[in-house]
Amino acid sequence: MGWNSWNYFAEKVDDKGVRAAADQIVASGMRDAGYVYVNIDDTWEGERDASGVLHTNSKFPDMKALADYVHSKGLKIGIYSSPGPKTCAGFEGSLGHEEQDAQLYASWGIDYLKYDLCSFIPEVMEKQAPHDNAAQIRLMHAAYDKMSRALKATGRPIVLSLCQYGWDSPWEWAPALGGNLWRTTGDISPDWDRIYTLLEMQDGLAKYAGPGHWNDPDMLEVGNGELSLAENRAHFSMWAMLAAPLLAGNDLSNMKPEIKDILTNRDVIAIDQDKLGEQGFRAYSDGEDEVWVRHLSGGAMAIAVLAAGDTRYSTHPFHLDTGRLGLHGPQQGKDLWTGKEITLTQDMPIEIASHDVLLVRIANPK
Ligand code: GLA
Repeated sequence: MGWNSWNYFAEKVDDKGVRAAADQIVASGMRDAGYVYVNIDDTWEGERDASGVLHTNSKFPDMKALADYVHSKGLKIGIYSSPGPKTCAGFEGSLGHEEQDAQLYASWGIDYLKYDLCSFIPEVMEKQAPHDNAAQIRLMHAAYDKMSRALKATGRPIVLSLCQYGWDSPWEWAPALGGNLWRTTGDISPDWDRIYTLLEMQDGLAKYAGPGHWNDPDMLEVGNGELSLAENRAHFSMWAMLAAPLLAGNDLSNMKPEIKDILTNRDVIAIDQDKLGEQGFRAYSDGEDEVWVRHLSGGAMAIAVLAAGDTRYSTHPFHLDTGRLGLHGPQQGKDLWTGKEITLTQDMPIEIASHDVLLVRIANPK
């Protein structure tokens, strides 16, 4: 869990903004709710000197001092690079300097690296293995393996986040290369259709997630763009059901109270962070409503009923089929957004507004 600069600030990220984000994570209560990593995304990179050492650009005058500052707040710090010659935003990548860069990150006190494929595709894969998909994939695996080893060789624990948009089913090979999380899709954007598209793409991936190795449906857009309160709530709920890395991506200095309330809902965070580490899955759908289930430690269960469609009250009304969830008889649970007790019964009608969610935790499912 943490925060990343890209979704809101993109290339406008700088030292001051990262310090402000760290301050806000503490002041807002996010740190105490579990947010740990403060991740600088693309556009921090400057030029390499004659010995190949990469320097920061003028937005980041002293990365070591920034890392010290973030650490002094009880937080960790992440950074970004690419296995290609350039990053996605056209800044300096790590190609040919992997060990050097890994050592540099470790010397700064970096705790997390997002490694983004980008220019490695045209500049290495397509150039070295034109029209040979299998050979291109081997090059990609080797590039991630190289950085993974370089990070390990530093002796500093550094989380490795693979960002290659789900190409070649990374869930099948990323853990073996030392990846702690891997993007399963292209980029998120702050609109419901995109968020829902990414959610749908996670169906079937549950079995690949577990402690220390996670599917990453991309960073949160909670609080960004024109998302409605219901959409923010549903997005956060579903990412928790997916055991997704919860990386907030909003402007923390101007966070509305209702957005803070969503991001710091401890009951929902507890679903995301459940120690069993089992990702949720879609149990069934009925019209435009979907029922997702996540098995939790201690035999507990989370159930999310999502009104995915555009029409208000798209299913009139939706009736919950608890039998299809393997449940028998009334189930006592907690509605994690109202905080109230709720009893789920077979065929009970549930009306959920468009793009909203009912998220329930059942401590003792029967
Ligand atoms: C890619 C990634 C994004 C972000 C940008 C930065 O698009 O998928 O998450 O890191 O690059 O340039």
